[in-house]
This record gives sequence, C-alpha cells and structure tokens, in this order.
Amino acid sequence: MASITIPDLQARRAAGERFATIALYDASFARLAAAAGIEVILVGDSLGMVVQGHTTTLPVTVADMVYHVAAVRRGAADSLIIADMPFGSYATPELALTNAALLMQAGAQMVKLEGGAWLADTVRMLVERGIPVCGHLGLTPQSVNAFGGFRVQGRSAEQAGQIVADATRLDAAGATLLVLECIPRSLTSQVMQAITIPVIGIGAGNETDSQVMVMHDLLGLSPRLPRFARNFLSTAGSVEQAFRDYRAAVLSGEFPSPEQSYE
Ligand code: KIV
Repeated sequence: MASITIPDLQARRAAGERFATIALYDASFARLAAAAGIEVILVGDSLGMVVQGHTTTLPVTVADMVYHVAAVRRGAADSLIIADMPFGSYATPELALTNAALLMQAGAQMVKLEGGAWLADTVRMLVERGIPVCGHLGLTPQSVNAFGGFRVQGRSAEQAGQIVADATRLDAAGATLLVLECIPRSLTSQVMQAITIPVIGIGAGNETDSQVMVMHDLLGLSPRLPRFARNFLSTAGSVEQAFRDYRAAVLSGEFPSPEQSYE
C-alpha cells in the first residue's frame, strides 16, 4: 500500500491542503522523489518527448509505459503512482480495460486518460472494475494534431464551457483526480467550483490542489523551459533538494507565480 492513498488525497482536497506531483520515468529519480516527500508520481507519456526524443507523445506504446511504470515502482515502492494510457490505448472501453490492467499489474495505482465526455462510459467501467482513473482536460497533448500545436486551451467562452462540462461528466463518472493543462486561471477557478475531486494543474494557475511538472523541466534539462515551468535545480545544489524545493513551493502555493500562469 502506498504511503499516501487515494482517500488521503480526497481528504486533502476537503481540508484545502495541497500535495505535489511529478512526472518521471525511472527508478533512480523515483527514489529521490520519494525521499523528497513528493506525494504522487506520474509516469507520463511525456517520456515519448523527454526520454525517447520524439516531437509528440503519440509514438509511445503500452509496452513502453509498462516498462517505465515497472522501473518507477522498483525505485519508489511506497509511492502513489499514476500511469498514462498512451495514444490509441483507450479508444474503446474494452481496449481501455485490457491496457489499464497491464499498467496496474506493472505497478500503477491509477491510470490517466486524456479527454472529456466521450470517456465517461470508459471511466465508469474502469472504476467499477477496481481501476482508479485520473482525467486530463485542457491542452491534452495526444490531440496536438487536432489543436494545430501545443496551445493554451479554453480561451473562448465555448471552449471554456466545454471544459467545465467535461470536468463535471468525468467527476460524475467516478474519476478520482483531474489534470488541467494550459488553461487560463479563471477557467481553473470555474472547474474547481464545479467538481469535488482533487485537481492537479500544469500551466493552469495555483488554485489547484496539486501541481505536476515534467522532471526534465524541473531540473532545467529541457532545451526550452515552458512559460509555466521553473528550473528548481538552478538554486538547489542537488536533485533531491530541487525536488524538496519544488514540493515546498507547491504546498505553499508560491508555485506557479502569476507570470507562470495564463490569463
Ligand atoms: O505526460 C505527462 O507527463 C503529462 C503531464 C504533463 C500532465 O500528462
């Protein structure tokens, strides 16, 4: 059993207490994140870009995810681990169940899916079968081709209304957590008011219950630091201290700053 559980995260939301989340992909960094007290590890399909060197997350396979989830689990035996379901692996509820089971057997305690109302039946089906689900709305990178690039989402009233409606549908379907990526802060507020499950933000302002950063951004390893990211290693002196500083900045609400958010 993880040192922090899903009910613990729900209790934190109810108590207004934040937690930190990090996306990472191997045993050594997972060990350091656990030592730094980071509450949740996401094995993100961002590994397709920062580990495998692709320009999008689309080439990542279920086998890739299983490999990295198992590695992270070996490094962080007691951490709460979320595994991304890669592109195409949850196109139907049946496919989602088969692939989610592989990720859970590799060591995840929850799977993450990108998308809104069209996933409600899949979410309900997975949850009923003992697989907790994290939703993901806003800039969903697996839809980069439909978006025409990695762009902030939810700026029009129509898009914003759709994101709030999708969040409500995922919550009602039984999702445990929700990631909001690259949306205006005011829209994050609307979503926070519309649902009761914990929300993890990335480029969505500091009102959420948690933040997630891709580890390579946090350590300044990415060639270009996104506006919503911060290099915590530049002031820390060690990777573990950078992870500790990141967690402290998330828990205090100091990260992300207004400059690291979208209006
Ligand atoms: O793949 C990933 O790392 C993610 C986060 C950026 C939310 O989905």
